[in-house]
Amino acid sequence: IRAVDVIRKKRDGVPLGDDEIDYFLKGCCSGDIPDYQTAAFLMATYFRGMNEKEVFSLTDSMVRSGKVVDLSGIKGTKVDKHSTGGVADTTTLVVCPLVASCGAPIAKMSGRGLGHTGGTLDKLEAIPGMKVSLTLDEFVNIVNSVGISIISQTDDLVPADKKLYSLRDVTATVDSIPLIASSVMSKKIAGGSDVIVLDVKVGKGAFMKDLKDAMTLAKMMVNIGETSGRRTVAVLTDMNQPLGRAIGNSLEVIEACEALKGRGPSELMEVCLALGSYMLILAGIAQSFDIASKLLQDALVSGRGMDKLKEMVKAQGGDINALEDYSLLPQAKIKYELKAQEDFYISELDAEKLGLCAMKLGAGRAKKEDKIDLAVGMVINKKVGDYVSSGESVVTIHGNDERLVEEVLPEIKSAVKTSKQKVAKGKLIHAVVQ
Ligand code: URA
Ligand code: CA
Repeated sequence: IRAVDVIRKKRDGVPLGDDEIDYFLKGCCSGDIPDYQTAAFLMATYFRGMNEKEVFSLTDSMVRSGKVVDLSGIKGTKVDKHSTGGVADTTTLVVCPLVASCGAPIAKMSGRGLGHTGGTLDKLEAIPGMKVSLTLDEFVNIVNSVGISIISQTDDLVPADKKLYSLRDVTATVDSIPLIASSVMSKKIAGGSDVIVLDVKVGKGAFMKDLKDAMTLAKMMVNIGETSGRRTVAVLTDMNQPLGRAIGNSLEVIEACEALKGRGPSELMEVCLALGSYMLILAGIAQSFDIASKLLQDALVSGRGMDKLKEMVKAQGGDINALEDYSLLPQAKIKYELKAQEDFYISELDAEKLGLCAMKLGAGRAKKEDKIDLAVGMVINKKVGDYVSSGESVVTIHGNDERLVEEVLPEIKSAVKTSKQKVAKGKLIHAVVQ
């Protein structure tokens, strides 16, 4: 096999065999195949796509590029959850403690935020003392005693994805359905959980801008999971506007705590309950969606979900007082209210633009190496469909740098579209693939 022949086949739309895909992936990771050939392969894949057999084969080779996490030391059906990337999307910190408090063990490896999307690890690190780099033994022990642990991906978890992603990032090939599907599913399969619930975001703030593409991606990922012997369900959820109200790391920890105390924004709660219900069903704890929802509601109302988050934070060295007294979390110096100059309804909140503004304030990373400011971001006080009276605050900006706040202000304004007429609230759950 020669790299150039594999690239030519893909360029011409001829499906690749398992051996060719495995050869290419091994070569690109070892350095035997230079980056310029891998870049050409990625671009050919971007334009030609991959059939289900090819994507499974690529995912399988990626999984084998590193170590599969051995979770056999944890009793029960381990359940994992993954989002393709959202804005004001703190679902993991809400739904995982709720599900764990219902008895499904969660051993989750999370990622960091990039671009306009946030990442669970960064949010957890806003909690003073919280450790997200644990050894596998520590991780397994915490899941066995507490029922849940969320840590960073180990270096040997799918090294091929790190290599491919860094090349995709600079060759405009990130938003390719087979490349996203193999990237996500290789990490989920290598993560070692038994069952997987995927939150596939659809809309202006997501990789997948329309429902048809999101559905193709969801079906591809579910197929990879099931072929690998992992029960997998994908829920397609809306990302036209930010999901919750908080964007930024400290701010999202506060939002998650408020949600677990029964004061969560309705959209965030609806998505959490849907994802959580499928998690409980796949884990074998609930027999139907209605039973699962009821269990989650009980966990919420009784405070058991919040207790579970505290137990996990404590076990990982974090200060649980910060989950009650939010002044113990990193705080921004500047709070600027963006106020309405007249009466209107909110007709659009551009999730991607708002996510990028939060990034520019310091809450996220333009490049993987960038340092972030855990305190900054914004709180969206009014969502699509809400009525705003003149003088009311639409967005509260939390900043630490006057110049940056001034810089993002016009961009935040342009992300908010208004209407004099009543605006309907859009659908949140678009479809379920199982
Ligand atoms: N999330 C991932 O982990 N990989 C992708 O390629 C896109 C989103
Ligand atoms: Ca996320």
